[in-house]
Amino acid sequence: MLKGITIAIDGPAAAGKSTIAKRIAKKLGYTYIDTGAMYRALTHKAIVQGINMDSDNELSDLLRQTEIVLLPVNDTQAILIDGEDCTEEIRSQSVTAGVSKVAAHGTVRKLMVEKQRDLAAGMGVVMDGRDIGTEVLPDAEVKIFMTASVDERAERRFIENTKRGIHTPLEELKQAIENRDKADSEREISPLKRAEDAILVDTTSMSIEEVVDEIVEIAEKRMY
Ligand code: DC
Repeated sequence: MLKGITIAIDGPAAAGKSTIAKRIAKKLGYTYIDTGAMYRALTHKAIVQGINMDSDNELSDLLRQTEIVLLPVNDTQAILIDGEDCTEEIRSQSVTAGVSKVAAHGTVRKLMVEKQRDLAAGMGVVMDGRDIGTEVLPDAEVKIFMTASVDERAERRFIENTKRGIHTPLEELKQAIENRDKADSEREISPLKRAEDAILVDTTSMSIEEVVDEIVEIAEKRMY
């Protein structure tokens, strides 16, 4: 019988995880869960409220008082923080620059992981992030570690930004991506790393459709 399975996609910043994960979820009729958006939501609220980003206590207290909703809207996903649409705000430069720091705290991560497991319970999901296959859903039927060269990732982000009217120089984007990769991979708690049983997918010279098809094919084999 066909069953709803769990697909975990991890990888470095701007590797195309969310674009791919969204399309896979649509193809399979699954729910997409963007865990990076949840860390971004907390970071945004912390900036707005002037919370100390070095304090696990302050940030985790804030998280306990925050409702984060990932709302499917057509082919994308809106992020509501305490009922307010913050989809655009969580992609701002200040949030992007601060999020790795917020995501490095132990209690913050513990609370986020609980929320993420609750969201995934009992249904077919595609979840993307940094620690999904290693920590959040270690029993996921499909684990993918998605990567691409840093030049390719910076270039993709540059094109995406240009379409949204954001004009950050390519070199600056590359530097920001490298900094975030370093912080996310070197943090003490649940660093970004490939789960032993994750399949490596290097998307550097692949189209979006090729990556989607490859992962859907892997997933379909695990559904019976
Ligand atoms: O996927 P993203 O770039 O939107 O993620 C934003 C940040 O959140 C990323 O730099 C690291 C952190 N993150 C994390 O630590 N664990 C996750 N599961 C997802 C994201």
